[in-house]
Amino acid sequence: MLDIRNNVSLKPFNTFGIEAFCTHFAEINSIDDFSALLKTEIYKTSAKLFLGGGSNLLFTKDFNGLVIKNNLKGIEIVSENEDEIIVKAAAGENWHGFVLWCIEQNFCGLENLSLIPGCVGASPMQNIGAYGVEIKDVFNSLEALNTANGELRVFNAAECEFGYRESVFKTKYKDQFFIISVSFKLSKHPKLNTTYGAINSELEAMKISNATIKDVSNAVIAIRQSKLPNPVETGNAGSFFKNPEVSKEKHEALKRSFEALVSYPLPNGNFKLAAGWLIEQCGLKGFEKDGAAVHSKQALVLINKNNCTGKAVFELSGYVLQKVFDKFGVALEREVNII
Ligand code: FAD
Ligand code: EPU
Repeated sequence: MLDIRNNVSLKPFNTFGIEAFCTHFAEINSIDDFSALLKTEIYKTSAKLFLGGGSNLLFTKDFNGLVIKNNLKGIEIVSENEDEIIVKAAAGENWHGFVLWCIEQNFCGLENLSLIPGCVGASPMQNIGAYGVEIKDVFNSLEALNTANGELRVFNAAECEFGYRESVFKTKYKDQFFIISVSFKLSKHPKLNTTYGAINSELEAMKISNATIKDVSNAVIAIRQSKLPNPVETGNAGSFFKNPEVSKEKHEALKRSFEALVSYPLPNGNFKLAAGWLIEQCGLKGFEKDGAAVHSKQALVLINKNNCTGKAVFELSGYVLQKVFDKFGVALEREVNII
């Protein structure tokens, strides 16, 4: 039964732990719930915000509109052959729970993406990535409902136009589709991806030589826990900014002035810079203002250190942007969705 509540606190629904209220709040437990919601006056007349685990959002004010929380559950095998399997997960499934389920079945491909907070439905939004893998590498298709008329549309990988922390759902189709499931093409034969140096060092430290996908997952979890704050203890939304891309010329100029610059060459000839390094070089690691702070173990992460407001985090992010621009002439871009 569809239930719409009014004036609901969003504090339990965002990993920053920021207090903000929304005018209306509906939880979707079935496709029928969404069909029923579509017919209501509230849906027709309100601004809308779709919500998964709230781990990539910053509320800077109350949301004057309808928040629609996706609680759709279920995992199913769509098809398989000797080598590959297509697995479909409903959008409201917890991402890390789904990754662990795949590892238990020995379905390979998602292990490097262990311990990313949030729900399956948001994973294509910014093409989540970590430790050498992005979901575009294992993505098969997704199902989404058109938010204007409820019609189902299936998107293949090309139609999602995945990029670094990008997809069509953040750009030309913003707010136009409610993702209900995502399917992944996984391998039945382990092909470990340990190109990200830290994974090999962690496996060595764990004294593991013939690593399984479970070992890779455990290594990724250990690395993440050593530097990223646990949102249950410290409010945050992961990396607050994207790692910026600069031209070869800009990269050379920066390298001349800052020998230790951390950067990675890209196939298009440009370079990606480690934004965490840029922020740290500005002396901002641990910097705190109005209860919002730059995380002391990973400068790319902003935290709710002392019961702060969303506005305080946003203002801190502006300060960081300015400092990095003043020192390096590089404009950082926020990765977190600002509401
Ligand atoms: P939400 O925050 O609820 O929503 C994010 C966006 O997607 C919003 O715009 C929302 O409106 C939209 N949305 C959500 N669900 C739907 C839906 N069903 N249909 C349509 N739109 C929808 N991200 C990475 O890529 N890599 C990392 O390594 C990583 N590490 C993190 C570490 C920590 C400690 C934290 C807190 C976050 C991290 N993140 C990382 C960011 C975040 O976990 C991911 O972006 C995640 O996919 C967000 O999922 P969510 O369900 O919480 O999305
Ligand atoms: N670094 C510093 N100081 C810092 C932080 C980083 O010098 O305070 C330098 C270090 O040299 C380090 C390098 O930056 O080697 C890269 O750091 P890290 O491996 O922690 O990764 P990142 O580039 O900061 C990105 C993603 C993360 C993802 C990790 C692992 C973005 C915006 N962030 O972080 O994603 O988990 O790589 O693949 O691309 C997220 O999106 O929320 C997120 C956490």
